[in-house]
Amino acid sequence: MAAGPAVDMKAIEGVLGNHPRGATDALVHLLQDIQEAVNYLPEEAIRAAADHLEVPLGKVYAVATFYKAFSLKPRGKTIVKVCLGTTCHIRGAPVVVEDFQHGLGIGPGETTSDMKYTLEVVNCVGACALAPVVIAGEKYLADVKPGTILKRLSKGK
Ligand code: FES
Repeated sequence: MAAGPAVDMKAIEGVLGNHPRGATDALVHLLQDIQEAVNYLPEEAIRAAADHLEVPLGKVYAVATFYKAFSLKPRGKTIVKVCLGTTCHIRGAPVVVEDFQHGLGIGPGETTSDMKYTLEVVNCVGACALAPVVIAGEKYLADVKPGTILKRLSKGK
């Protein structure tokens, strides 16, 4: 198995410094801030959070694995979500997923080796009128035609 990216402990320590020691009720917020800073929750960060907030390591892992928004695996700079809800599926979303496999060599749940993109598939995001929909970071890309997604991602529209 290939080693993941180096863990940015400086960034993690910076986040810890913004939360008072022993503030057990800040656990979720602290984990959110760490993930925002380094894009996932490395083991080192989980241990540091447990130590800083003085909560059992098991509790930190329980919270980190309970919320779907947290990732224990390194993720790309841009999280790309392809909707595979019924409307998007009918309108070609599976081919959009194939575009990632052919163009970037990644499937759902995987990250490009340059850490640029992580691909996720999701259920209906409530924007069926825009189907098929891809969400790149915070941006909704509407009516994504097969064979166009990688170009649209690079242009950001
Ligand atoms: S099915 Fe994709 S937004 Fe509803």
